[in-house]
Amino acid sequence: MSKPKNAFMAWIDHRLPVTSTFEKHMSKYYAPKNLNFWYFFGVFSFLMLANQILSGVWLTMSFNPTQEGAFASVEYIMRDVEWGWLIRYMHSTGASFFFIVVYLHMFRGLMYGSYQKPRELIWIFGMGIYLALMAEAFMGYVLPWGQMSYWGAQVIISLFGAVPVVGDDLVTWIKGDFLISGITLNRFFALHVIALPLVLVALVFLHILALHEVGSNNPDGVDIKKYKDEQGRPLDGIPFHPFYTVHDLVGIVVFLMVFCFVIFFWPEGNGFFLEHANFEEANGLKTPEHIAPVWYFGAYYSVLRAIPDKLMGVIAMAAAIAILFVLPWLDRSPVKSWRYKGLFSKVAILVFAVDFIILTWLGTQPATVLYTWFARIASVIYFAFFIGMPFWTRIEKTKPVPERVTG
Ligand code: HEM
Repeated sequence: MSKPKNAFMAWIDHRLPVTSTFEKHMSKYYAPKNLNFWYFFGVFSFLMLANQILSGVWLTMSFNPTQEGAFASVEYIMRDVEWGWLIRYMHSTGASFFFIVVYLHMFRGLMYGSYQKPRELIWIFGMGIYLALMAEAFMGYVLPWGQMSYWGAQVIISLFGAVPVVGDDLVTWIKGDFLISGITLNRFFALHVIALPLVLVALVFLHILALHEVGSNNPDGVDIKKYKDEQGRPLDGIPFHPFYTVHDLVGIVVFLMVFCFVIFFWPEGNGFFLEHANFEEANGLKTPEHIAPVWYFGAYYSVLRAIPDKLMGVIAMAAAIAILFVLPWLDRSPVKSWRYKGLFSKVAILVFAVDFIILTWLGTQPATVLYTWFARIASVIYFAFFIGMPFWTRIEKTKPVPERVTG
């Protein structure tokens, strides 16, 4: 560890490992020098997490978590609270942006095989984050107590009714009542503002800890620790601070410009970020014509609807998420990055990405006969990607991986 710059820092360092922690995780943490654009999305995920927590704290100051007051308090925030509209859009549009950056972050992992040995745990913690994030977003969407809050919750909670034997009891237990009511709203509020954010922050901490234990992968999938200088510094690495801190700052500024543009000029995203039906207060006696989840749940909702049997649909939906957890063990390729995998792998990853987007879109549309068939085909492709992966990654011919990163 370097010597502290002044007596005050020396005093602190004696009692709290500030300098050594900063050096270990920032100024002496060597990241590959060939990280590209795709590596911004981890930082953007951080930024969105901070944005959700900060805007959430301010929303909570004026939000009324009761069946009688929730909807009106959101209107009050939008119209009467100073800057309330901005805080609300930062949070509601922020949720969609959070999912956009997390999906791109996960796609980067898929392209460069970042989940492969020795980074399996980084991926598993990432999946834990993804699950917690979905639960967090679902409960958050119930809070404004609009029509889609209520009926969306009705559809999702009723899925637990498909569980054999205990299904009905489970549904009542989750609702805390025989109907979705103020009691449900209250407990979702508690989970949304306290419990799940704590879980999320803890998982993100573990995610980064696991990352710093083994170091970042890179677009070439080359191990940068193989070649080191006399002082033991990786030849293909650069200190995270100041190089990547400054580099990331540029990305953050551009990202915030896009985010602000959307918040100011397109906050509802044509009903994709805030659904039109949610501008009407929840009414348990009036079912909306078309109940659809927010876009980021669309893919799994499509898988659910693709199967006519409720229990089988729920199992397929759960399997679609669960299979992502075991991805590190499905990819048997000797190389990490798709740059050096065979043509089949590259095509498969692209087909999977398009398939996921189609499933997402179908999930937001009414389930017509035609769309249901599209969803069935797309669901088969979704599972085929994972089930086939151990086979083609084992037999396909790979390209030689360079010894050093290619820049
Ligand atoms: C709140 C959400 C998340 C935050 C704040 C976050 C943050 C980060 C950061 C800062 C990095 C290092 C920079 C980078 O590689 O981009 C990283 C790496 C990584 N993350 Fe996440 N992440 C989140 C969610 C996820 C999810 C949902 C997954 C996948 C299921 C995931 C998988 C990974 C992997 C595999 C790496 C290593 C990438 C590599 O070294 O090439 N992360 N994450």
